[in-house]
Amino acid sequence: MMRVAVLASGGGTNLQALLDTCQGSAPARVVVVISNKATAGALERARAAGVATEVLADPGDGEGIVALLRSYDADLVVLAGYLKLVPEAVVKAFENRMLNIHPALLPSFGGPGMYGHRVHEAVLASGATISGPTVHMVTAEYDRGPIVAQWPVPVAGDDTPETLAARVLEVEHQLLPAVVLAAARAGHVVRLVGKEAAFGGSATPGPVADATLWV
Ligand code: GRF
Repeated sequence: MMRVAVLASGGGTNLQALLDTCQGSAPARVVVVISNKATAGALERARAAGVATEVLADPGDGEGIVALLRSYDADLVVLAGYLKLVPEAVVKAFENRMLNIHPALLPSFGGPGMYGHRVHEAVLASGATISGPTVHMVTAEYDRGPIVAQWPVPVAGDDTPETLAARVLEVEHQLLPAVVLAAARAGHVVRLVGKEAAFGGSATPGPVADATLWV
């Protein structure tokens, strides 16, 4: 059973998708939800699902988060709308075992300050006709870690940031659990190729080689 820790700052709809998927015979469980905001909707969702919650307002040097994650014996860490930069100590401790979901096709439309509606505004301003979520490994830089999975979502001519965000979010709710389940089945984070997961054959988490479009 893969023990998943989720870090979230907001409403937590991606967390909800994970909670709904990681139950019954699924090979993963959300064991703790950590937020920097005591009022985050994600914490309420965790409580409603009987999952432990923790609040760490300031990640500081990251040692507190690392200790917390270790105390819950987390195998995989998922950032689901976590708005703080993850300190290097956490990145190092969970190298290749920490994922983030971003609501655009990285490497475009990512980086510092690119979150929430700003992402979708930038996509619309660029004239791109395709957007969609990206799941990637977390490194010390915002949105720059190796890409694990992406899912294309069409941009409509009359889209507003709100309508585009809603269309992408629906797909996020499928993509993130799919990646977590694939990782849980493999025992490590994997690169997804076509509809099949390509496994490195190693029992320990391995690096992800390159970007792959997963449709
Ligand atoms: C999502 O759009 C995700 O891609 C981004 O933050 C948002 C979180 O939404 N990183 P929610 O809290 O899961 O509803």
